[in-house]
Amino acid sequence: MQYGHFDDSKREYVIETPMTPLPWINYLGNKDFFSLVSQTLGGFTFYKDAKLRRLTRHRYNDVPRDNGGRLYYIKDGNTVWNPGFLPSKTPLDSYRCRHGLGYSIIESKKNGIMCSVKLFNPLDKAVEINQVKLENKSSTKKNITLFSALEWCFYNAEDDATNFQRNWNIAEVEVEGSTIYHTTEYRERRNHYAFFSVNSGISSFDTDRDHFLGTYNGWDKPDSVEKGEDSCSIAHGWAPIASHCIHISLAPGECRTFVFLLGYVEQKESTKFSAPGKVNKDKAYRIIESYDSEEKVQKAFGSLQKYWHGMLGHFQITTDEPKVDRMVNIWNQYQCMVTFNLSRSTSYYESGLGRGMGFRDSCQDIYGFVHMAPERARQRILDLASVQFADGSTFHQYQPLTGKGNADIGGGFNDDPLWLIASTIAYLKETGDFSILDESIPFVDNNIGTTTLLMHLERSFSFTLSHKGPHGLPLIGRADWNDCLNLNCFSTEPGESFQTCSNYDSGKAESVFIAGMFVLYGRTYAQLLDRLGKSKEAQEARNETDAMEKKCIRYGWDGNWFIRAYDALGGKVGSKDCAEGKIFIEPQGFCTMAGIGEDEGLGKKAMSSVWQYLVNDFGIELIAPPYSTYHEELGEISSYPPGYKENGSVFCHNNPWVILAESKLGHGNEAYSLYCRNSPAFTEEKSDIHRSEPYCYSQTIAGRQAPTYGEAKNSWLTGTAAWSFVAVSQGIFGIKPDWDGLLIDPCLPDSIGFCRIIRQFRGTTYEISIDNSTHSGYQLTVDGERVHGKLVRHNAERKRVDIKLSL
Ligand code: BGC
Repeated sequence: MQYGHFDDSKREYVIETPMTPLPWINYLGNKDFFSLVSQTLGGFTFYKDAKLRRLTRHRYNDVPRDNGGRLYYIKDGNTVWNPGFLPSKTPLDSYRCRHGLGYSIIESKKNGIMCSVKLFNPLDKAVEINQVKLENKSSTKKNITLFSALEWCFYNAEDDATNFQRNWNIAEVEVEGSTIYHTTEYRERRNHYAFFSVNSGISSFDTDRDHFLGTYNGWDKPDSVEKGEDSCSIAHGWAPIASHCIHISLAPGECRTFVFLLGYVEQKESTKFSAPGKVNKDKAYRIIESYDSEEKVQKAFGSLQKYWHGMLGHFQITTDEPKVDRMVNIWNQYQCMVTFNLSRSTSYYESGLGRGMGFRDSCQDIYGFVHMAPERARQRILDLASVQFADGSTFHQYQPLTGKGNADIGGGFNDDPLWLIASTIAYLKETGDFSILDESIPFVDNNIGTTTLLMHLERSFSFTLSHKGPHGLPLIGRADWNDCLNLNCFSTEPGESFQTCSNYDSGKAESVFIAGMFVLYGRTYAQLLDRLGKSKEAQEARNETDAMEKKCIRYGWDGNWFIRAYDALGGKVGSKDCAEGKIFIEPQGFCTMAGIGEDEGLGKKAMSSVWQYLVNDFGIELIAPPYSTYHEELGEISSYPPGYKENGSVFCHNNPWVILAESKLGHGNEAYSLYCRNSPAFTEEKSDIHRSEPYCYSQTIAGRQAPTYGEAKNSWLTGTAAWSFVAVSQGIFGIKPDWDGLLIDPCLPDSIGFCRIIRQFRGTTYEISIDNSTHSGYQLTVDGERVHGKLVRHNAERKRVDIKLSL
């Protein structure tokens, strides 16, 4: 069953009912200023950092699920309704929500009034625009009242949700004309404030929640709306809000548009007051003036659309399967941008209070993003390197506002350092810009001398070498990619953090997954060293990766698949000898991608084991069989009921590793079949089971052992986005950025006979046609000339290159 449809020509997903199985959200904003908006106009807004600079309040785990947001009430006689349906839940005569690229439009109709709310954050200002359009579609004159409402957050969202003994005393607001300013703590150490304005006169306002709602009402039935007038309340402490009340008279066919702005302003300490105690509002005035008419708003919207057109234009594909095209061309790349911007910090599942930017997560996000805006990826890599310690280890997360490592979580996740090599190499292959390696970035704990990015990579590489266990495989530390496989934790204390405590560090727990990473990225790192003229170091690196490969074959192979790890007691994890958790997906994907034991056919065997034990209708489960009881020696993974999260769901993030592994082995049909299983456009028809948004990937889909098999959770902020884009664009369609140009190396299913790809690469447009129907064997021509091998060398002088490949 579906709740909407894709409109590919507009690059929108059109939701046809507000009652989707779960809130279906969109992200607004591109660089610093972000908003989440659901199909009911729920969600919240923040500047840069969802924890430290939250502008509007959101109650997680609230009932109903998606309460609050930016609310618009229309009072028409005795009927009060909301264009987003919530919170009044007044039945609408028609409803539609269009989630587009960086914008959402909700269009509803009730009793002859059509209301459209268009929301977007323009490219270059810290403001959320809500353009509200009201049209009288009836044949009689309508006198209606429009109310806006939002609730301010006290910036630090964690403190906001906990420190009431202070917070209920500090709220301050100011109203000037049609603008409501939220100035809490501005009198002391905050040099920023927020405002909510509308480009029309207002009849009244409210800034105090209790006055607006009435002490015992919810947002569904505010007192002021019932009365038909705000009460001009000024908040002194308690909960500050912003509501405008506008009386509107509409002749039949008449239409009026209002521009509401939720803005954010930062001031220098020296200019924060225009007179003693008087908030300097100049910057707010300028923002308000920038969007005080429909024309100005339309212009800003046009720039946003142009921006997205440019971004997505870096990779466009045409096949005869529209679902593939819409994922590759629109939604997958769009999600890659969102994950790049926000890592795992804030969504409807990630509260934004706990996590900042994840180190490994952000490194991987670069994979899906680097082709769109390499200069931003460059800066991100440098930011990430700056939370690395001199021994090569890294902070596991950092806060975007401060750029500082998150001390609560600390480090010790032994895969983290290698991801820095992976993302830097992805950047180098995309851009050819080796100057990044010379950038100087101090280590977090050692400021002495100049430390270049290249030195950071060296430390990353040597970290694995200096942290090996009894079998010569990498020590896992607190955990590797699988945060929930906590082999040194041994926790018996309810509530104790699985990730940060280590009760039994025997120095023995080893990861076959990190071994796979080390071989894969270590070999590319060796190529890099060669290119830098460091052939001795390159040879040493190769010796180490060869040695690791041998160890992996010797101690990491279990007969038909790669084992996952050795636990702290030296026992195997993910082996046929285990009662449960016999096979894990991660090493099958990574070790096969790394080519470990390729000559012996290990990858092939590993893949057939994956199909035999792990594949279901929605993708590949993380382990089989899941753990049915809690295992102290394994940690969090066994804390989930079977079939959920790391304990046997389809953990979508690592499915693309298997797709890439299958592509490496030349198994086009298998790779594509796996790709389709959880690609959102392909799951759309099962939306009643899948429940999460059908236009973006979710982190997990409950596995076969779960009572809710097929239900997805944790949509949007997942490494699935970047890896799926790599899997489809590089694995299946085979457009692989390489040191000297583009490798054209597809691995297509029989069902795709022909495709055309436009790829912008280092300033050149590559137009690539692939004919998969000739069975001619690999034949490549570049600008009409036959080329041997799969590499199309980049030549900066040629701005357009025509590539034809028959297979
Ligand atoms: C984390 C990733 C981790 C994955 C698997 C995600 O929630 O953000 O860093 O690799 O879970 O445990």
